[in-house]
Order: sequence, then structure tokens, then C-alpha cells
Amino acid sequence: MLYLVGLGLADETDITIKGLEVVKRAERVYLEAYTSILLVDKEKLEAFYGRSVIVADRELVEIGSDEILQGANDADIAFLVVGDPFGATTHIDLVLRARELGINIKTIPNASIMSAIGCAGLQLYNFGQTVSMVFFTETWKPSSYYDRIKENVSIGLHTLVLLDIKVKEQSLENLLKGRKIYEPPRYMTVAQCAAQMLNTEDERNEGVYGPDSLAIGAARVGAPDQKLVAGTLKELTEVDMGHPLHSLILLGKRTHELEKDFIREFAVDGATFDASWSKWYQTTS
Ligand SMILES: C[S@@+](CC[C@H](N)C(=O)[O-])C[C@H]1O[C@@H](n2cnc3c(N)ncnc32)[C@H](O)[C@@H]1O
Repeated sequence: MLYLVGLGLADETDITIKGLEVVKRAERVYLEAYTSILLVDKEKLEAFYGRSVIVADRELVEIGSDEILQGANDADIAFLVVGDPFGATTHIDLVLRARELGINIKTIPNASIMSAIGCAGLQLYNFGQTVSMVFFTETWKPSSYYDRIKENVSIGLHTLVLLDIKVKEQSLENLLKGRKIYEPPRYMTVAQCAAQMLNTEDERNEGVYGPDSLAIGAARVGAPDQKLVAGTLKELTEVDMGHPLHSLILLGKRTHELEKDFIREFAVDGATFDASWSKWYQTTS
């Protein structure tokens, strides 16, 4: 059996009892370590699980999946995914390959950023399409996410923006020279995301949002030092949310008066929050 085990969002203790039982008895345990990260390192997980864990980077999962699946017809293999195995990550290739090989698959769900973001106080029902923000470069500033946000905004829905993670990436030079030298990991911050969003609005100029649109920055959701900050996009370009991981919510118009009051509690500045609210938002009853 191939078990896809969700680890939850913060630390080693977020695994479910069901998940832990699988981890303890599996023949091999892989930790998917490139689409999201826990806020503790592998050694802490190993100490808690009482066994060793193999880190599975993108290369192993995408090119070497047969190595992961080896023996799974006769023994249990655990594949650990931070958050929920099917929350904003699917690993569908691994699942399809397992199916092809006649391996049974079981999923053990856990909290995902897709649901835990409800801690910001907004109804999950009123979120539209989730988008991903990648690190812009001098020559590459993809803006397809802007079209998705435009659709969400047009019907008043909030947008959850998930932020880029770069782990085990090679520089262009090392890639071209075939050198397996990796850059230090990088995790996009709320401030970088807000700045890139404003950069895209400047370029596309369709008025989907602006510097005074309201947004919420969320850091380390589920951890003891979870942090939420509300403000205009311009304010958020200067906010320091601390350690990764970060996400951002662009507020939609379908925000209830009570939700507004809740969010305002963690506003950077109550006065700019109120001014922006009057300009961009209407409340539902
Ligand atoms: C591919 S998604 C997460 C998928 C994961 N399987 C899940 O269910 O949560 C990774 C992105 O989600 C966001 N994220 C994940 N965990 C987070 C957390 N605890 N706090 C804030 N943002 C988080 C970050 O933007 C991160 O780059």
C-alpha cells in the first residue's frame, strides 16, 4: 500500500494518530520537501516518529517515483506531505504511477492552508480561485494569476494567494554546466507578494485592485507564533511578517460587517483601513 499522509501545518505533533500509526509501521517513509515545509526540521520529525525519514526532493518524486514505489505491492510505503496531501498539491503523477503498477493507495488527510486560512476570519465559502505567486525576475513576470483574481473580484470573492518556495534550485549557470550546486532556499514574503501584485497592476492597468485595496498577510498559520496583519497592499509591501511560510488574501467585496470588524483588529493602521473600506468595499447583510 502507498499511504499519502498529511502532516498538518506547523510541527511534528500535527500528524494525526492514524498517520502516525502508518509512519511507525511502514517499510520506508518519504518526506516530500519542496511544495511546502513544516516549521521544524527533519531531525525533530524523526525523533518524534522514532524512525528515520528519507527526504524526497522534486527530482526523486517526479523522475524517480519508481524508487519510491519499489516494493509497495507487498509492503507499506508512507509518503508524507506537509498540510493535506491533496490541498494545493496533488502528486497526481505518483498516484497514477502507483495505479499503473497495481499498488493500492490510501490517503490520510490533515489540515491544509486551504482550510486553515479560515483563521483570518473570512467565510471559506466566499473564496474564489486560489492563485500562486512566483518570484519575478528581471525578464519573467508572469501575470496569469491577475486574470484569475479579476474573475474573483468581479463576483466579490476573496483570493488566497500562495507564495513561491524555492528549494534545491540551481542557478542558470550551474544548471547549464550540469553542476549539482544548489542555491539557499527562498520563501516569498507577504511584502514581496504585495509589491509584485502592485507591479502587475501597474503593467496591466485594468483596475482590478490598487495600492489601497485591502489584504491580509498570514504567517506560520497553525504555529504558536502565527501572525495575521491586515492593511492596504501598499502597507503590506512594508510589513515584516517574520519567518516563513506566508500567504496573502486579497479581500473581496463579499465581506460581512462582522468579518470586517474582526479583521480590523489586526490592521496596520485603523484609519487607512477605514478609508480603504469606504472606497472599495460594500458589506452584505
Ligand atoms: C503548495 S502550498 C501548500 C500545500 C499543502 N499541501 C497544504 O495542504 O497546505 C504551499 C504554500 O502554501 C502556503 N502555506 C502553507 N503552509 C502555510 C502556513 N502554515 N502559513 C502560511 N502559509 C502557508 C505558503 O504560501 C506556501 O508557499
